[in-house]
Parts: sequence; C-alpha cells; structure tokens
Amino acid sequence: MSATKIVLLGAPGAGKGTQAAVLAEAIGIPHVSTGDMLRAAVAAETPVGLKAKAVMDAGHLVGDDIVIAIARERLAEGDAQKGFILDGFPRTLAQAEALDELLPRIGSGIDCCLAITVQTEAIVKRLLARAEIEGRADDNEETIRERMRVYDDQTAPLLDYYRGQSLLREVPGMGSVEEVSSAILAELEAA
Ligand code: AP5
Ligand code: MG
Repeated sequence: MSATKIVLLGAPGAGKGTQAAVLAEAIGIPHVSTGDMLRAAVAAETPVGLKAKAVMDAGHLVGDDIVIAIARERLAEGDAQKGFILDGFPRTLAQAEALDELLPRIGSGIDCCLAITVQTEAIVKRLLARAEIEGRADDNEETIRERMRVYDDQTAPLLDYYRGQSLLREVPGMGSVEEVSSAILAELEAA
C-alpha cells in the first residue's frame, strides 16, 4: 500500500473514527483523532480541556491555534513518522494550510484525502443511537445539527482544497462498516 499519510474527511457521524480504527490496524499506522485528544483533555481538566469544553459542548470548533498545536505535537512523535490517519483534522482551511507547512518537516506531504460521503438524516439517527451507548456530551439532536452546520460552513471547503491538489478520493459511507472499509482500502490501493 503506497498511501500512509492519510486525511479522513467527513461530516459528524460519517464514520471517520470507526474507519480510522480499521485502517490503523490494517496498515499498521497510528490513528490520530483531535476529537479524542480534546475529549481526553476535557476529562483530565487540563488548561486546554477547560478552555475547549464549552466550545465542544456547543458543537463549535475549538480555536485553530489550540488544535494545530495539539496536532503538531502528536505528529512529531516517533510512531507517526512512517504515516498516520488523521481523523477530524484538518477542519478549517487554516488548519489544512498549517498541516501542509508542518508535514515537510516530518518527511513528505499527505498522500491522500479520503472523504466519506453520507446522508444527513441517516447520520442524525446514528449519532442519537451512539448517544445511548457512549453518552458523548455533543450527541444530542440540537448539537448534532449545529455540528453539521459547522461542517458545511467550515470543513466542506476542504473538499475543494484537496481536489485542487489532486489528493481527494470520495467513498460512499452508507454501507456496512465492512463495505465502507473495503471501498476505502480499494481507493488507497489506487492512490
Ligand atoms: P470529533 O470527535 O472529530 O467529532 P465529529 O467530527 O463530530 O465526528 P464523530 O466523532 O461524531 O463521528 P465520526 O465521523 O468519527 O463517526 P463514528 O465512526 O464515530 O469532534 C468533536 C468536537 O471536537 C468538534 O465538534 C470540535 O468541537 C472539536 N474538534 C475536534 N477536532 C477539531 C479540529 N480539528 N478543529 C476544531 N475543533 C475540533 O460513527 C458514528 C456512529 O455511527 C458510531 O456509533 C458508529 O458505531 C456508527 N457507524 C459508523 N459507521 C457505520 C456504518 N457504516 N453503518 C452503521 N453505523 C455506523
Ligand atoms: Mg469520531
């Protein structure tokens, strides 16, 4: 498999975390989720966590400076030097540009941006179902819809950003977990 520096893009609930875990295992590279790192910071009540909590609970984006610093630190670790799957980062044009600047310092740029495409109403159902199991503070209907609005407004423009670099590959995310994984692996083989 040639692609090892991978950005996973997709709306809230698209399956980024689920698929990143499968890919990390299949390819043997770390799964880097800024959402997971921020939730850990909130749980540990670190200065970043204390700052981020209200923003995350409202479904808004944590500031670029904070998130870029978290990603920079994580990608500098040893296990990320051979590759990584970024889940939930970048999420704004400023973050994408920061990543492009950051990567040459740790080798080459990203190999592939995989965008998981989904239908909004199905996703609201998925996230409400997850709320029953995991109890994530931002998995209530009002906040889910706000996260989707923020995605359309601030993150969807990254599709064109990566399309412009000929790095974008789109994968339908509405099948079973296994079907989506197979489609993603096929795209990566071709990348
Ligand atoms: P983040 O944690 O990234 O959340 P998100 O983008 O809203 O996405 P989710 O984690 O809800 O969904 P997912 O795409 O990972 O889907 P999953 O695999 O879980 O961010 C949370 C917050 O942190 C943000 O709102 C922001 O405040 C902050 N943040 C994070 N990164 C940031 C950044 N870079 N900049 C600024 N702020 C940032 O699947 C969802 C559910 O569906 C699960 O229950 C799963 O089991 C199920 N499922 C998955 N695939 C399938 C399938 N194929 N069929 C049926 N069910 C499925
Ligand atoms: Mg996730």
